Amino acid sequence: VGLLRSLRHYCQKTPRKLTICEAISHLQVGTKIKVQGWVRSVRPQKENLFLHVNDGSSLQSLQVVASSELNHRLLTFGSAVEISGSLVTSPSRKQEVELQADQIDVVGECNPVDFPFKIKKKHGLEYIRQFPHLRCRTNAFSSLLRIRSEATAAIQQYFKPAGQEKNQDEEGHQHFFSVPAYLTVSGQLHLEVMAGAFPGVYTFGPTFRAENSQSRRHLAEFYMVEAEISFTQSLEDLMKVMEDLFRSTTEHLLDQCPEDVALYHKHVSPGYRDNVDLMMKKSFNVITYTEAINILNSSSKKFAFKTDWGCDLQTEHEKYLVKHCGDFPLFVTDYPYALKPFYARDNQDQPLHTAAAVDLLVPGVGEMCGGSLREDRLDLLKTRLAQAGLDEAYGWYLDLRRFGSVPHGGFGMGFERYLQCVLGVDNIKDVIPFPRYSRSCLL
Ligand code: 4AD
Repeated sequence: VGLLRSLRHYCQKTPRKLTICEAISHLQVGTKIKVQGWVRSVRPQKENLFLHVNDGSSLQSLQVVASSELNHRLLTFGSAVEISGSLVTSPSRKQEVELQADQIDVVGECNPVDFPFKIKKKHGLEYIRQFPHLRCRTNAFSSLLRIRSEATAAIQQYFKPAGQEKNQDEEGHQHFFSVPAYLTVSGQLHLEVMAGAFPGVYTFGPTFRAENSQSRRHLAEFYMVEAEISFTQSLEDLMKVMEDLFRSTTEHLLDQCPEDVALYHKHVSPGYRDNVDLMMKKSFNVITYTEAINILNSSSKKFAFKTDWGCDLQTEHEKYLVKHCGDFPLFVTDYPYALKPFYARDNQDQPLHTAAAVDLLVPGVGEMCGGSLREDRLDLLKTRLAQAGLDEAYGWYLDLRRFGSVPHGGFGMGFERYLQCVLGVDNIKDVIPFPRYSRSCLL
């Protein structure tokens, strides 16, 4: 009994460490708690000192009330603090609970003159991008990181129940065990190997492209979600997975981090927001490449790049097509055979020769997904590889068609482009923690 009594006493005296998200869910009102975080605002008043503290667990900050006698010289915007006190119901309508502080320790000081972010000032994404090592201290970027984390979980959840197996793709370095190695540009060929033994497989990881581009939608290192589906002969199957993946991930975000998403949606037009809502309900548009070319050619707009049949669609074309089709996601199917890599399935159509390939174009971004049915006919694949001078290197790939081959297809979705589309973020560098692009690998 004595032991129990002292245990109870200990529990009552020792504050429980909570995240701020847990604290403001106000289930713990009346208890002693301890929180750790970073000061977002300081307001000294006559009798009390008011602080707002955020710890990244949610967008919300916890209001802390302390005696104004407290020496608050070091309690500046951005400083790291540890606070113990009692969680009480707040008399203000602005928040339901607040922390009546017994003790505040400044764990890390922050000189407000040198700190690049200023209290009460709204810093644009372009400004905070200059500080890749500090920008997670801002509300905007901390929201983005929570959104990325939830979207990652949603993507894994989407594929898992479907029984898709995950392929951990390899990432090379310039020299690995003293031999030259390569950075992966796609996990597709490895997925195709796995698709020979599973109904569906996916991978989600860093992908590298030596893109010499400073555009708002290109990075040299980005994250790609790739899926490969076995026993399918139709592009419709692939389009369905792309559409479902988009919807289930977005639904999860709207459900799990509505405040973070709303912070981004505050900066886009109400029409953009409504459009994201509509994407959750209305089927995406589908046109063929040939129809797309006809639309471009019958437009009065002057494009910088050619729009003849056989030319690749450029960003300007993709954006025009999305706008033309109601500013709504749009699948473009059946591209010219000559434009697609050796693995794309030949539609064997005449007189226009096309491949069973599909891209998903979305508002604000252009191409978000690219995929195709794979050529599963051994003779056609052999000829194509020989024409490309790849037959020796790809003997193993022909083996996949030789031994128990099945019709299959897959696609890749650019994760950052997905985030740009859903959040309405103009520049891809603002949706990835450490953007690497041509001539910039800062961190
Ligand atoms: O169209 P891509 O190049 O397709 C492939 O790599 C296929 N092997 C995928 C597959 O079928 N398994 O790339 C797929 C997507 C693009 O639609 C785009 O969203 C994104 O990856 N992407 C980039 N994102 C950011 N920066 C870049 N440089 C990108 N290049 C492609």
